[in-house]
Amino acid sequence: MRFLILFLVISLVACDTSKEKKNPIDTQTHEEFVMYEPSEMTKHMNFMYAYNQGLKEKILSGDTLPNFTKEFLKIYTATLTNNKEKNQRFKVGAESFIKSQQKIFLQKDSLAMVKQYNKTINSCIDCHQTECTGPIPKIKKLLIH
Ligand code: HEC
Repeated sequence: MRFLILFLVISLVACDTSKEKKNPIDTQTHEEFVMYEPSEMTKHMNFMYAYNQGLKEKILSGDTLPNFTKEFLKIYTATLTNNKEKNQRFKVGAESFIKSQQKIFLQKDSLAMVKQYNKTINSCIDCHQTECTGPIPKIKKLLIH
């Protein structure tokens, strides 16, 4: 038992010293130096976020809304990080999201507009529920309370 403890202490110390000796430059792999390039889908998601933020402001201040922009349809064509294939769940989620987003612009009164807007934001969240849950708290901020 005593021997085991001694062994553990030595190995811990050994581990620490080896870490100290390493120059951070030597331990960096080449990949870590390559600049991070967001995927087409990531950029598109950020576009959709910003657009809906602007839409929220317009709805709240009672401004007339612009027409639905076809830019949203990029959700069907933009490539995912690492060229990951879009699964069935993504495709179905994208379709119901687009339908909901389009409907916002067709609403006649502000109450119906708010309702449709929130429905759309909830469909963003729906798709994020299984994969990519990280941005959910941020997306929730788009909801109109
Ligand atoms: C059909 C599924 C789906 C829908 C609908 C969807 N997202 Fe995403 N979202 C994703 C996926 C998948 C990613 C990760 C993209 C990648 O890695 O290429 C993502 C990434 C993001 C990110 C992270 C971007 C970054 O900088 O890392 C944000 C923010 C985001 N989405 C917001 C939204 C908002 C806002 C909406 C609605 C207006 C929305 N999403 C609708 C699937 C979806």
